[in-house]
Amino acid sequence: MAFPSAWLDELLHKNDIVSVVSDYVELKPKGRKLWACCPLHGEKTPSFSVSPDKQLFYCFGCHAGGTVIQFLMDMERLTFYEAVQQLANRVNMELPNEINDREMQRQRAYKKRIIEANKEAARYYSSCFLNPAIGKDAQAYAMRRGLTSEIVTRFGIGYAPDTWDSLLKLLKSKGYSEKELVDAGLLVHNTERNTVYDAFRGRLIFPILGVNGDVLGFGARVMGDEKPKYINTGDTPVYNKRNNLYGLYLHKNEKLDDLIMVEGYMDVIGLYKAGVKNAVASLGTALTQQQARLLKRYVEKVYIAYDGDAAGQNAMVRGLDILKTEGLEVRVITFPDDLDPDEYVQIYGKDGFDRLKENALSLNAFKLEAMAKGYDLNDENGRERYAKAACAFVAGLQPIEQERYYKQIAKKTGYALEALEAQGVRSGGIQTGESKPMIRGGFRRRVETGEDPRDIIERTLIAACLHDKRALGHAMEAHAEELFRNTVYETMFRAMSEQGSAFLPAKYIGGLEGKDAETASAVLREDEAIENAVESAADCIRRMKRENEEEEIAKLQAILKKPDLTAEERNAVLKEITERIRANK
Ligand code: CTP
Ligand code: MN
Repeated sequence: MAFPSAWLDELLHKNDIVSVVSDYVELKPKGRKLWACCPLHGEKTPSFSVSPDKQLFYCFGCHAGGTVIQFLMDMERLTFYEAVQQLANRVNMELPNEINDREMQRQRAYKKRIIEANKEAARYYSSCFLNPAIGKDAQAYAMRRGLTSEIVTRFGIGYAPDTWDSLLKLLKSKGYSEKELVDAGLLVHNTERNTVYDAFRGRLIFPILGVNGDVLGFGARVMGDEKPKYINTGDTPVYNKRNNLYGLYLHKNEKLDDLIMVEGYMDVIGLYKAGVKNAVASLGTALTQQQARLLKRYVEKVYIAYDGDAAGQNAMVRGLDILKTEGLEVRVITFPDDLDPDEYVQIYGKDGFDRLKENALSLNAFKLEAMAKGYDLNDENGRERYAKAACAFVAGLQPIEQERYYKQIAKKTGYALEALEAQGVRSGGIQTGESKPMIRGGFRRRVETGEDPRDIIERTLIAACLHDKRALGHAMEAHAEELFRNTVYETMFRAMSEQGSAFLPAKYIGGLEGKDAETASAVLREDEAIENAVESAADCIRRMKRENEEEEIAKLQAILKKPDLTAEERNAVLKEITERIRANK
């Protein structure tokens, strides 16, 4: 939803950037600005500055910068909307769509109740685990699985005693209704007999926390071989497994290079204990787009490390493309002998895991490997069919990458490289979505993540103009508004041109709806443009002009191919093309 302009004005006015930033670091005045060591990246000398008059921050070290909203987005890893929500909360402003909306408020209060009930339950399960009499078996089981008391505390592991009503009695005595507890998934309602009883009984408990630390649900494991092995909280008003990643909350305030996606509770915990602390679990489900977006808020690079068994491998193939589509760099770790990550580190330790990680496969190499599993490579016929399928796949990749993968196929099948390449050319290549044209220079890194390079250029231009009035002046002179292809960026640029220094990006974005707001707020993340804004803007304008020009010429060339063109028309088009090409020299 969009925030009304007056409402955003009030929000920004009430949330003074100095006071918000001061919740995180101590600011010291020097000149017209306030300074601190940057809370967004580690450093020893202060290069993080806040300008009270402009209500902006900027770090000369990591080049993060923007309004108070951007600061919270970076600091707490929030989306634009979450940051606005948090700021509204901070100054007791009601969100516009909630004003007078009793139903919404009631729902929010109800969610809070459920989260409170969950927290009480987690406390209770933990006390049962630690109780020498009640928790005896659970402690022994945890010990057998190598869970130290430090790990038990870190992950809040508990025990649900083997009774029908101990949690029920406790939480009712604390004022929770049966309905609330059933809705939370803590109690089960038997409709036939119209009775309620504890959902988790005689099981080890893994609390599932949201990134803000709320207890959202539980996983509960049997301590023997009974089935089902796990019972998990289902959909509740506060929890849906598709939207959450187990273990992510541990990293809320950390800067991470990468995250490791695993399948289960015990994989996260086992890796953590071995010293690999950055694993998160999708909890046995196929990875969802929501989870991929969540990951994207923390890192650029994700290692998938699913179980070595067939189920794990299949889930992995599905998850890979989802991550890729969200623009994440993906690597695949595979475990030998059907081991899962937890078992693997118990045998080979952190060093062993780190070696696997170093040798992790790229997405394409993994796909080729996965493809090979469908053929019998001990058989001539199988090798041939695999080679054909694999070559068709490789032929669809970028030329530079192809060599590496043909070698991989050659090694597997024994065919000569030349034969495989010829086969690939003949197949024409399967479209893998990888063969998009690239742009020279600094944008290459980002192009690989699957974004339209043109959007990055247009966004960079806007970021440069936001950062430096001279860049904006230059762009206005060049009539950049006529060069945009992305209408969101075009409109934003026009607004900037009209409003000049009165233009507030955060406020502007707040006035947009849904996808447009997302597109526009990406501008705030473009820091490449900051370093040398004027030059950067000029470069973007040049690129946009050239691309637009190339597009025009391509259109004219297409006209030339029309069969019913008269000689006169043909000459006119040819002349036009020639003129355009010469003008660009
Ligand atoms: N899972 C589930 N219900 C089951 C089996 C599995 O919800 N009956 C989910 C759990 O989230 C589990 C994950 O799938 O953590 C992975 O399953 P699995 O590999 O079988 O379990 P592990 O996490 O390895 O647990 P353990 O080592 O205790 O067997
Ligand atoms: Mn396991």
